[in-house]
Amino acid sequence: MVTKTGAKNRRAKRAEATVEKDLGKGLDVGTAFIYCAEREKGNIVFRRQRDAFFNIEPGDFTKKMLNKINVKYIEKDGSLYVIGDEAMEMANIFHRELRRPLRKGVISPSEKESLPMIELIIQSVIGRPKCKGEIVYYSVPAAPLDADFDIIYHENIVKRFLEKAGYTPKPINEGMGIIFSELADEEFTGIGISFGAGMVNMCLSYMSVPVVSFSLSKSGDWIDEQVGIALGETASRVCEVKEKSLDLTNVKTQSHIETALAIYYDNLINYVLKSIKQEFDNNPKLPRFTKPVTLVISGGTTMPKGFLVKFNKALSQVKFPMEIGKVKMASSPLHAVARGTLIAAITDQERLEGGPHPSV
Ligand SMILES: Nc1ncnc2c1ncn2[C@@H]1O[C@H](COP(=O)(O)OP(=O)(O)OP(=O)(O)O)[C@@H](O)[C@H]1O
Ligand SMILES: [Mg+2]
Repeated sequence: MVTKTGAKNRRAKRAEATVEKDLGKGLDVGTAFIYCAEREKGNIVFRRQRDAFFNIEPGDFTKKMLNKINVKYIEKDGSLYVIGDEAMEMANIFHRELRRPLRKGVISPSEKESLPMIELIIQSVIGRPKCKGEIVYYSVPAAPLDADFDIIYHENIVKRFLEKAGYTPKPINEGMGIIFSELADEEFTGIGISFGAGMVNMCLSYMSVPVVSFSLSKSGDWIDEQVGIALGETASRVCEVKEKSLDLTNVKTQSHIETALAIYYDNLINYVLKSIKQEFDNNPKLPRFTKPVTLVISGGTTMPKGFLVKFNKALSQVKFPMEIGKVKMASSPLHAVARGTLIAAITDQERLEGGPHPSV
């Protein structure tokens, strides 16, 4: 006979086993980087891989050399493709452009043959599941407001790769990932904005339910390209300056690249805020918030010194239909989405086992 107490004990035991094995993973599938987050002995650890590849001339000697220095590569149609951070190193050595399998947040239409490379990059970051069908939440962009592609193909291809690797994959909106990571103290209510490489993703959540979400197809890559066009520089040179030395509080005394970067940063921030206001104003289902709403910004494009000051200045010029309270930077702007997807995975894994939520 099955007693209620017996069933409860079994559920509790399964839940303990889940916590012990630290089940559940989070994956941030980004245009520039793919991050995996998981727990090891209760602590969150992150792994990262550059979302890029580079093809080199094949040959037995080359293969031997790559194997010897432990570089990940695949052979396809008579070519060798090196993936991840090593691809960037090789592109710099050979003075050639790095190839990127994603563009504007989704699988690039101009790199159709790059699917095996994306699969290998994902595998190298996520590793093997700790149990058959371990849950993994992976980030996907929201539908774009300003471009005529959808995310259906991208979402399903990534899902297939994860299933093939032995996981139970579940997509989650990128902006929602930020809210799960940063707004637990506010009952997962607020606005999350991710300024990435290919896109800006935003989500307004009320008690962990996404109410408004969309993406915009301009962000860090767009800034690099526009500054490059304006000054006759390559986008990769602009990107290097941006990541190494840009200080948005002090551009007057800086180089012409930094001055141009500041101009395009202003343009991007104003464009994002104007788009959010328009979407809020035109949405009849916007909840009535009884207290000021917290706004969190995150993503690599927010990294230069002075970004938050610039953002706040621009925000003070825009009137949203709800009062905005605190505006804060995510605790770790490069990891927030991966951390949020992990929290979603752990919560789901726990629900499956019928146990309590572990603290992360
Ligand atoms: N220190 C830095 N200063 C300025 N920009 C930076 C810095 N570090 C990274 N970036 C920029 O941030 C972007 C990458 O950010 P992130 O990893 O959040 O994007 P992603 O998740 O890969 O892309 P997306 O979310 O758009 O698909 C790139 O444009 C990169 O040049
Ligand atoms: Mg991102």
